[in-house]
Amino acid sequence: MLNKKVEKALNEQIKIEAQSSQVYLGMASWAERAGFQGCSAFLYLHSDEERVHMLKLIKFVNDRGGAAIIPELKQPEKDYKSLQNVFQQLNDHEEFVTQEINGVVDICLREKDYTTHNFMQWYVAEQIEEETLARNILDKLNLVGNDKGALYLFDRDLAAIKASGSGTPSK
Ligand code: FEO
Repeated sequence: MLNKKVEKALNEQIKIEAQSSQVYLGMASWAERAGFQGCSAFLYLHSDEERVHMLKLIKFVNDRGGAAIIPELKQPEKDYKSLQNVFQQLNDHEEFVTQEINGVVDICLREKDYTTHNFMQWYVAEQIEEETLARNILDKLNLVGNDKGALYLFDRDLAAIKASGSGTPSK
């Protein structure tokens, strides 16, 4: 049986991954409406990946004899001021997710649940990639500023990046 404290932490993480998917879906929809097709494609893909993160946790909890809880979600933001604003929030959100994952890992160690600890290492590695990617995109976007031509190229380049890949937008 899954340790109860670990099960609770994993269920909280299920909710965080589900909410992440929801937040990025909101961002994707905004970017699509704002005419940033490349960013929109990137964000839709990112949203799908968060759903996969959630599903992986659900399967693990149930397979280990726990009960995965499908969470209720908040409606995400509808409007953003700018692309910079979107990717700043995405970056901040990923930093928050990393903290939460570290928290789950910490509980696994305290409860001596080495199986779940091992399982969580996939998430630890994934967060390193996601944080790097988010920071690279944000840096690039801050360089671009409000230059419309550069924003157009940035948007076009972003369509080519896999959401959790470690690539950076080309110059
Ligand atoms: Fe599943 Fe981007 O954290």
